[in-house]
Amino acid sequence: RGLWAVVPAAGRGARFGGDVPKQYLEVGGEPLLAHALRALFAHAAVSGAVVVLAEGDGRWPGWNEFAGKPLRTCAGGDSRADSVLAGLAALPDDVRADDFVLVHDAARPNLGVDDLGQLLERGRNDPVGAILAAPVRDTLKRAGDDGGIDRTEPRERLWRALTPQLFRRLQLSRALENARDAGIAITDESMAMERQGLRPLLVEGAEDNIKVTTPADLAYFEFLLQRKER
Ligand code: CTP
Ligand code: MG
Repeated sequence: RGLWAVVPAAGRGARFGGDVPKQYLEVGGEPLLAHALRALFAHAAVSGAVVVLAEGDGRWPGWNEFAGKPLRTCAGGDSRADSVLAGLAALPDDVRADDFVLVHDAARPNLGVDDLGQLLERGRNDPVGAILAAPVRDTLKRAGDDGGIDRTEPRERLWRALTPQLFRRLQLSRALENARDAGIAITDESMAMERQGLRPLLVEGAEDNIKVTTPADLAYFEFLLQRKER
């Protein structure tokens, strides 16, 4: 048993562009997906992962394990939330309904093991669970319909949601299903939980736990990896 992760990797990378979905782009000889898995599996508490793949994905290398830990795969959906739901359903049977499960983007290759450790330590002591997040650094403007600035939003309590996010298996599936049934687009797991009136814990994580969204993000990760390997 132990702690399992769901890794959504079924996106098309529309904002990145190009022919290869970004989770399969290689940096340092490995696809981003492998970097994401390696980061998760660097923590001894993480015992396996379900990788959620796009229907008809021809690039998945067919791994049954990675870094000595078991991998499973399943088919994802049109939205990230649907992919995560599919991943939760594909967890091994011995992962219990109230066990905590991690969700981590395949496109987030630079998770640090210290951040993961903090998330697990603090999140598993919270009744609901927790997410990694980084404080907002920029000054935020609320725009009106005309493109003029209505006001400046105080940023003191604003955070950028990162992954991994840690929630209980059944509670998370129910929350994602409820959001789907209500027709509400969910951009992270926490948002679905919040809609249920639950209050996940924020755990401050590193700024450089980036999600690769554009080619500039990929260049930044290349830089971060080279710096680590030096
Ligand atoms: N994802 C998924 N299933 C989807 C959409 C996204 O599993 N239907 C995954 C992506 O593969 C990625 C993570 O969710 O690992 C974060 O999503 P995002 O960065 O938005 O990736 P894409 O949806 O692929 O990119 P874009 O939105 O630019 O198309
Ligand atoms: Mg997307």
